[in-house]
Amino acid sequence: MSRFAYVNGRFKRHSAATVSIEDRGMQFADGVYEVVGVHHGKLFGMEDHLNRLERSLSSLQIPMPMSRKALSLLFERIKRKNLIENGAIYLQITRGIAPRNHLFPTNCRPSIILTALRRDAYDKEKVLQGTKVITLPDLRWKRCDIKSISLLPNVLAKEEAKGKGALEAWLIDDQDLVTEGTSSNAWIVTQEGELITRYLGNEILGGITRKVLLKISQAGKLKITERAFSKEEAYQAKEAFLTSTGTFIRPVVQIDDHKIGDGKTGALTKELLDWYETYLNEESDGT
Ligand code: PDD
Repeated sequence: MSRFAYVNGRFKRHSAATVSIEDRGMQFADGVYEVVGVHHGKLFGMEDHLNRLERSLSSLQIPMPMSRKALSLLFERIKRKNLIENGAIYLQITRGIAPRNHLFPTNCRPSIILTALRRDAYDKEKVLQGTKVITLPDLRWKRCDIKSISLLPNVLAKEEAKGKGALEAWLIDDQDLVTEGTSSNAWIVTQEGELITRYLGNEILGGITRKVLLKISQAGKLKITERAFSKEEAYQAKEAFLTSTGTFIRPVVQIDDHKIGDGKTGALTKELLDWYETYLNEESDGT
């Protein structure tokens, strides 16, 4: 089946879609992105994604190139054109096209790209087997709250994780505290049953999945603390998992050489997965 992309006002065949060599995204990674999940044919968490997008853009002084409504319609169109039932829509907005110069260009219009990605339906059995993460120093810049397309440290760390048979790398700051994963947020459950994820700040991305999970957990009256936790604390955790649009909730059963709990997906993680699944299905109902 043909795939379609949207580039600066036009829908094109994915394989024929291109950007200018003078696009500042290419030259300087001068842009931002969003990945919006599609579940049972419905875009998930659109308002939250648009809020984060506006925040990222304004942090870089890139104007919002069109209204939220117009952008939402583009998301719908790219989803429909690509017949996405389960998957994700990728949006990238850069400062635009201009001769290479570090200074912001004047009279430059932001470039917009949308692409669609189809995924197999969620395989719960496989997810429940759990995954391994490794830890690596966090080499990223000091504004990880901006969803910037500049992802080189993330790319390098993810590759290293793969080489060590792990799905993800948890990044460690100068105080030996876990910030987040290369493309996901990090969570642990302490031996006392407390759910912990790092507080929002410049060191991590405010994940939409993280936000949804906090909401669900609060409704379920779980004891949750948004605080930093150390690598050592993660090793000693009863349970651990990561969250992102692509992976939803992914149980972590090993961190470096340390087995987490009994090395199997924990009871609370399982419960959270069920809650999250119900929430996703309810949110996707009726459209
Ligand atoms: N990554 N932290 C980082 C560094 C991320 O790149 C992501 C998402 C998250 C989780 O955010 P959310 O729950 O909104 O997906 C946390 C996307 C999916 C990516 O880069 O493909």
